Amino acid sequence: MSKILVIGSLNLDYVIDVEEMPKIGETIIGNSIKKVPGGKGANQAYAIGKLGGDVSMIGAVGNDDAGKILINNLKNVNVNTKGIEIIDNEVTGQAYIHVNKKGENSITVISGANSLVDKELIDRNINLINDAEYIIMQFEIPLEIVKYVKEIAISKGKKIIIDPAPAVKNIDKDLYQGSYILKPNELELATLSGKELNNIEEYKTELIKMQSNGVNQVICTLGEEGCLHYNGEEFKKFDCKKTKVVDTTAAGDTFTAALVISLSEGKNIYESIDFAQKAASITVSKRGAQSSIPSRDEI
Ligand code: RIB
Repeated sequence: MSKILVIGSLNLDYVIDVEEMPKIGETIIGNSIKKVPGGKGANQAYAIGKLGGDVSMIGAVGNDDAGKILINNLKNVNVNTKGIEIIDNEVTGQAYIHVNKKGENSITVISGANSLVDKELIDRNINLINDAEYIIMQFEIPLEIVKYVKEIAISKGKKIIIDPAPAVKNIDKDLYQGSYILKPNELELATLSGKELNNIEEYKTELIKMQSNGVNQVICTLGEEGCLHYNGEEFKKFDCKKTKVVDTTAAGDTFTAALVISLSEGKNIYESIDFAQKAASITVSKRGAQSSIPSRDEI
């Protein structure tokens, strides 16, 4: 099994259970609020650790209780947390997540220490980059750092997986060019493309563009419709098992993590997508981010 490094965000999630999402100008009464370890980077590292992978994380938290909770949760599943730095005078990242009765969410992130992941922090942890075969990044740390790491890592022959979440409009292709896998969901694909995408043919057109911009392969996840994989030669659509959706939070993170651990174990991309879809379908059937990530036995 080869080593995996996740570089990204750690957030303490405040999960607010509501009947319907609040509309603009509306006040609603929520059913409950819970604090759950989250952050796209930390969720991915946690999932790989829980699934038995050899995983390290680089990131930053504040010198506060939330930071301690997040680091301890990762340690509990054997994530190497030496690359997570504790920053004085800054708060740990936070996410305010509304989840409605259909299990849909809407998330506001306050970046806090995640925004202070800089080149020096990366350089101090270069040994973790040197040791890894797979490096996963998302877009909850400064994008210039994603680009910086990508360039270093590619020059060292590493396989880069970019989960472009949260997506940003008019993205510079420098952010993902040369990566091994780019994995947007359908909304992120539309944001990255700068236009509404209405059907599978339109998704395919955008995947062709992204792949031809210098990505080895692209996987677009489509919620309950499964996912679409493109490797520059052919498309393959994967259906997924229907599940009762309780909370979709961290489904994409679980997918990415399970995909990469499976690749790191020598499985091929199609076997790995199948494993990733099964893992993500369990995540949506439970509440919260790290609290919903399954073990290998459950998958
Ligand atoms: O992908 C889910 C995650 O997005 C949450 O855990 C939240 O922290 C935000 O980063």
